[in-house]
Amino acid sequence: MGKNWIDNKTVIITGASGGMGKGVAEKLIKEHGCTVIGIARSEEKMKKVVEELGDYAGKFSYRLFDVAVEQNWADFVNYLNENNIKPEVLINNAGILPKFSKFQNYTVEYIKSAMDINFYSAVYSIHALLPLLLESDSPAIINVDSSAALMTLAGTSVYSASKAALKSLSEALREELRGKCYVGIICPGFTKTDIFRNQDSTDAKGQKMLNMVSTPCDKMVKMIMNDIKTKKALGVHGFDAAFMNYFGRVMPVLGGRLFSNVMKMSKLPLFDAVFKD
Ligand SMILES: NC(=O)c1ccc[n+]([C@@H]2O[C@H](COP(=O)([O-])OP(=O)(O)OC[C@H]3O[C@@H](n4cnc5c(N)ncnc54)[C@H](OP(=O)(O)O)[C@@H]3O)[C@@H](O)[C@H]2O)c1
Repeated sequence: MGKNWIDNKTVIITGASGGMGKGVAEKLIKEHGCTVIGIARSEEKMKKVVEELGDYAGKFSYRLFDVAVEQNWADFVNYLNENNIKPEVLINNAGILPKFSKFQNYTVEYIKSAMDINFYSAVYSIHALLPLLLESDSPAIINVDSSAALMTLAGTSVYSASKAALKSLSEALREELRGKCYVGIICPGFTKTDIFRNQDSTDAKGQKMLNMVSTPCDKMVKMIMNDIKTKKALGVHGFDAAFMNYFGRVMPVLGGRLFSNVMKMSKLPLFDAVFKD
């Protein structure tokens, strides 16, 4: 395998205890010799990651904290400095998918907490870590965004707003830091992970539909790794994401209406909280 810029880097990745974050962490360690510091809240899940890494576990360490709390990032920077750890790459991947629902059904408190996890976590991490990252010869910030930032559908107001904010922030940073720091935005479509835990799991048909349109996690991880290796500015992955990207640009109003109508006509209980009064 030829050399790649990501080889042997010290990488911080949020949401490394499961789903895509875990997959990317494993690939960075096993295929690129990276030293990875994973961040998430569940120690049980992190222990499993360590166990699965086997002989590679020495390349992985973890810190357990809520990425949505600003103070935790200040504490994390202190931890890095005290241990003389020099991060070179930051991957903001932790995120949640709220249950599909009408805007008015979400409490303002819930909306704020979703923004905190999906958007402000990246604001805090970048603010806190950028000075350290810029000490590296080839610093990088990679934000795992979503196809929801490319087109907004009925029932996804909060998730789309959080991911659109993350996209805009990343786009500005990409230009502000051009030539100094690689900034990548990755927009996956539906991917088979545990992120659907908030959706109605008793809706077998809905689950089947989600399963049908979702990309397998290992396949998505491969595409994300390819973006990272080639320093892609914007990665859009999964056929659903490709559709949303296309229609979001070509038919910015009618596209959202068309997709929302398809969801409505499906009559799936999954979308009851969106379309039923
Ligand atoms: N799966 C999809 O269909 C899809 C599609 C487009 C975009 N995305 C985006 O891709 C990213 C990864 O999603 P995924 O599907 O891999 O999700 P996942 O399987 O649910 O994993 C989410 C990860 O984030 C961590 N996390 C969540 N909230 C956190 C918090 N407040 N503080 C610290 N860690 C937190 C979780 O760990 P703990 O529970 O241990 O804290 C877990 O490691 C997310 O940003 C998501 O929005 C996913």
